[in-house]
Amino acid sequence: MGEAKLYRRAFLATSTAAFVGTGPSSSRALAGTDEGNFVSLGKIAARRGMQFGFALNSRRLVNDPRYAAVVAQQATIVVPENALKWAAVHPSPDRFAFTQADTIASFARANGIAMRGHTFCWHRSLPSWVTQTVTRRNAEAVLVDHISRVAGHYKGAIQSWDVANEVINLSDGLPGGWRNSFWYEVLGPSYIEIACRAAREADPAAVLCYNDYGLEGDGVNGANKRAAVFSMLRALRNRGAPIGALGIQSHLRAGRAESFGPGLARFIRDVKGLGLDIYITELDIDDSGLDPATSDGIVAGVYKRYLDLVLETGAVSVVLTWGVWDTPHYTAATPGQNGPMAQRPLLFGPGGSVKDASWAAEHSFARAPLLPPR
Ligand code: XIL
Repeated sequence: MGEAKLYRRAFLATSTAAFVGTGPSSSRALAGTDEGNFVSLGKIAARRGMQFGFALNSRRLVNDPRYAAVVAQQATIVVPENALKWAAVHPSPDRFAFTQADTIASFARANGIAMRGHTFCWHRSLPSWVTQTVTRRNAEAVLVDHISRVAGHYKGAIQSWDVANEVINLSDGLPGGWRNSFWYEVLGPSYIEIACRAAREADPAAVLCYNDYGLEGDGVNGANKRAAVFSMLRALRNRGAPIGALGIQSHLRAGRAESFGPGLARFIRDVKGLGLDIYITELDIDDSGLDPATSDGIVAGVYKRYLDLVLETGAVSVVLTWGVWDTPHYTAATPGQNGPMAQRPLLFGPGGSVKDASWAAEHSFARAPLLPPR
């Protein structure tokens, strides 16, 4: 039997059982029987011309050999979850703290895995020295210096940089839907272009990426945000700014009425039409509203539907999940922070065990359109 058939058979066998609520709903039975047939997601994605991987925590990479082994086996691309955010990497004006991200970079290099960088301009994770000492007068110099130093340190080692993260927030009421953030206040909307040019100069090989959330839903909020992001990207391209990709974070929730659909697929094609690649950068699926007895199958179904939708466009070349394996936590899509946490939001169970969602992703990657070599 061909490999594709095997994935299909395995995925359908488990997901159907879970969807109708009969048979074993958890991955454990599956892990015991079929895990040996599971092929690395990174390898399957590579056959279709795509990269697959995870956001990483450097301490776990060092302290947990199982974690490192699963990453090495499944990923062809990784990103530090927090280690390259401003407060982590540049905690005081004269101090750069590269150790944690260096750990991830060395691991990636040693294992032939690509690495993304996340992130330069963000309204969060700004250390107080920035908000207290940066003014309109020195803002451009400080931003350019930060990017030159950090992108320069990883020059040649980064596949793509999230140059700007979450800069659109329609509820702030600013023209163009811009978020009323620190960088907007001191530099106005030109800060993205300033940041792109600094990143391009520091690392000419890295693809420069705009990353955001809330672009996925088919409802009016998603549609409005997509329109604002599209206009911003088009304006950047028209001015010749070196922006090369859009990151769609994809923090999803299972079990609610409003969901993703044709609006997202159309948007991806439109952004591709501007000449940008599209990456799925932070995928996870909050299951906190589901009955644990059936949640694995439902989450797998959402992964399948989402990956099929975005991969079918032929414009998505990179997919990463926001974490390696399930641990109970609040995902970025979990409502509030006092209610129930997501329990099993990722593609692998604890220790990297194969679960319904793993098969779903494998099936989606295996049947994705073949991307041209880049
Ligand atoms: C989150 C991390 O996962 C947390 O550990 C941290 O405390 C806060 O940031 N969008 C992003 C990511 O772009 O950087 C965020 O990561 C999740 C939402």
